[in-house]
Amino acid sequence: VVNAPGSRDWAGRANRLAADALAQDDPTGWFERLYADADSGAVSMPWDRVGPRDLLNEWTLRTGPPEPGDQRAIVVGCSLGEDAEHLARLGFDTVAFDIAPTAIRLARDRHPDTAVQYEVADVLSPPAGWRRAFDLVVEIHTVQALPDPPRPEAIANIADLVAPGGTLLVVAARRADDDPEPDGPPWPLTRTEIESFAAAGLAIGVIEAVTDPVDASHRRWLAEFVRASS
Ligand SMILES: C[S@@+](CC[C@H](N)C(=O)[O-])C[C@H]1O[C@@H](n2cnc3c(N)ncnc32)[C@H](O)[C@@H]1O
Repeated sequence: VVNAPGSRDWAGRANRLAADALAQDDPTGWFERLYADADSGAVSMPWDRVGPRDLLNEWTLRTGPPEPGDQRAIVVGCSLGEDAEHLARLGFDTVAFDIAPTAIRLARDRHPDTAVQYEVADVLSPPAGWRRAFDLVVEIHTVQALPDPPRPEAIANIADLVAPGGTLLVVAARRADDDPEPDGPPWPLTRTEIESFAAAGLAIGVIEAVTDPVDASHRRWLAEFVRASS
């Protein structure tokens, strides 16, 4: 929840839409409804910001720009496109996708001169051509928005996007293995879950437990996985 409480606050609408969708066994059905409500002005825009997530920005400052050549990146659950635009500015040939058509339309509208290829796609059934196709895969806060099931399937599919020699960066809310799982989204990931990104042939690079220096209740994983070059 990032917005001040109020009748136009998207977070309250998200809670209601998510509860309805989950009751109907449709765990991804609420994202498009939320973006459409925001687009009509009924609520504020969810996950709205200017510029990349801080943890992605810091990570790319540490790792530096991509090697010259065709380095392909993909952003999972890209929302309005700020992280994808950041990677494209750094020099990655970037694809970004979201399940919500309205989010993808808004991302394209917000970045009319973009080099990013924005696509409507579901991480639970990604296009076959994306398999092992990306040198950098960025997953921030999408998996935690899905219940279990289908969370493990989403984790396996994301890992499968990583090309030989490529890297997966995951940022997710964090909970202890013995903390109770919340009833509704977001579902912070346990260490066991974050480690499960390595199950599809990836090796764990780093798994860092990050706590926000200003608000200690904001606990995150920042994790890096790599696939050996073939
Ligand atoms: C919590 S938001 C995070 C957005 C963005 N990654 C960020 O860090 O601000 C989750 C995003 O994932 C998208 N999403 C949810 N389920 C998805 C799925 N199955 N496939 C692709 N995108 C999905 C939602 O529409 C939403 O834009």
